[in-house]
Amino acid sequence: MGRFVIAVDGPAASGKGTIAMRLGRAFGLPVLDTGLLYRAVGVLTQRAGESLDDEGATGSIAALMTAGQLDDPALRTRAAGELASRVAIHRRVRDALLAFQHSFAHQDGGAILDGRDIGTVICPDAPAKLYVTATPEVRAERRWKQLTAQGEVVAYEDVLADIRRRDARDGGRDTAPMVAAPDAQLLDTTEMTIEQAADAARRIVEVARARWESSQ
Ligand code: CDP
Repeated sequence: MGRFVIAVDGPAASGKGTIAMRLGRAFGLPVLDTGLLYRAVGVLTQRAGESLDDEGATGSIAALMTAGQLDDPALRTRAAGELASRVAIHRRVRDALLAFQHSFAHQDGGAILDGRDIGTVICPDAPAKLYVTATPEVRAERRWKQLTAQGEVVAYEDVLADIRRRDARDGGRDTAPMVAAPDAQLLDTTEMTIEQAADAARRIVEVARARWESSQ
C-alpha cells in the first residue's frame, strides 16, 4: 500500500493544528503535531536546569524523548511555546527529532504532520503540502482566546509580541527555517472561520490525493 503524506506548515496560531486534526478525520490518517516535540524538549530542558542555549544538553534531551512525554498539559502553555522556539534553533535538537518524525510519516497508509519544516526538510516528497498563514494580529487574537480558555491570564498585546518574536526567530534561523516549500499550496486563513479554513484545506488535499492516486 502506498503512503499518502500530508505536510501542514505555517507560523504560530495560523490554524494549522486544527486543520491537521480535521484532515486526519476526513482522510482517516494519524496526525503528529511536531511542535509538541520541540515544546517537550524546551520544558524538559528547563526542568533539568540546563541552559536552552546549550546545543549539547538540549540535543541529548531530544535524543531521549519518547512519545509518552507528549501528553503533558504543561506543553500547551504560552511559556512552552517560547521555550520550544529557543531550542528549535539547534541543529542537534532537530537531528535528534528526525527519526521520530520519519517513522511517524512512514506508516502504512500515510500520515499527517504539522509544523514548520515538514514540507521542506522532514517530508520533502509529501504528495500534499499546505502552508497555512494569517496576519499576526488575527493569530494573536486566536492564541489569546485559546490561552484564556486554558485559564492563563495574559494580555492580547503580550501574545502579539510573542507571535512576532517567534515568527522572527523561526523564520530567521539557519537550520530548517520556517518557509513555505516551493510546491506548497498557500492557505491564508485571516478572513476565514475555522470551518471555512478546514473545508478549503480538505478541497486542496482532495485534488492532491486524486493526482497522487493516478500516479500510483
Ligand atoms: O502552536 P504553535 O504554532 O504556537 O507552536 P508549535 O507548532 O507548537 O511550535 C512551537 C515552536 O516549535 C515553534 O515556534 C518552532 O520554533 C518550533 N517548531 C519547529 O521548529 N519545527 C517544527 N516542525 C515544529 C515546531
